[in-house]
Amino acid sequence: MGVGTAGLTAMLSVMALEDHGLRPGHGPVLVTGAAGGVGSVATAILANLGHEVAAVTGRPETADYLKGLGAAQIVAREELTEVTRKPLEGEAWAGSIDAVAGAMLGRVLKQMKYGSSVAAVGLAGGAAIDGALITPFILRGVNLLGIDSVMQPYANRLRAWERIAGDLPMDKLEEMIRPATLSDLPQLGRDILKGQVKGRVVVDVNA
Ligand SMILES: NC(=O)c1ccc[n+]([C@@H]2O[C@H](COP(=O)([O-])OP(=O)(O)OC[C@H]3O[C@@H](n4cnc5c(N)ncnc54)[C@H](OP(=O)(O)O)[C@@H]3O)[C@@H](O)[C@H]2O)c1
Repeated sequence: MGVGTAGLTAMLSVMALEDHGLRPGHGPVLVTGAAGGVGSVATAILANLGHEVAAVTGRPETADYLKGLGAAQIVAREELTEVTRKPLEGEAWAGSIDAVAGAMLGRVLKQMKYGSSVAAVGLAGGAAIDGALITPFILRGVNLLGIDSVMQPYANRLRAWERIAGDLPMDKLEEMIRPATLSDLPQLGRDILKGQVKGRVVVDVNA
């Protein structure tokens, strides 16, 4: 249960990036919302596969946690939240898994390396892509890959869970998990909305 939908979605994102050519050694892979559920699992899987992970977080206090999961670099959220009018920025990322959207996805698209891909997973920072332009797509051949965990074909689910069994180190998963009981749920809900929950929460319904 520690893996959950967030972990499945992280693996589907890694697979989509690989299917579009990402390989270890191509350069840093940017994970946004890194201290959240999808971001934590994505960070651990990518690092275990040999990728250099750059983890974006708005919580500097999670830096040690993210480095423990395998992140090589911490990027402050503020570096990517300003909407700019530039058509392109310097090529920085060989791939990206984005759980945030909003201004961050607009900026990330402009910073992608030539021919690379972004897996768009979530909307923790907004439902639009703010400040996005067509230039990364037509001048750098950047791909924006939509990731949906709900309607995934069965064969792809099997492939993803098999990959999780092999590529997500269980000791890293343990580091992400916080156990909880049903009576914790009201407070947990408030904490989630305030962005204060880290990694994954496993609720023991019998406790
Ligand atoms: N496509 C699918 O099938 C699928 C499946 C599961 C989840 N999702 C979506 O994916 C997203 C992430 O899910 P999750 O389970 O990882 O959620 P989560 O545990 O709440 O993590 C979201 C993370 O996003 C960052 N964040 C939150 N608000 C932000 C803001 N205003 N600006 C920038 N960053 C912000 C925070 O990371 P830091 O504290 O590190 O900054 C937070 O921990 C959600 O939107 C969820 O609905 C989609």
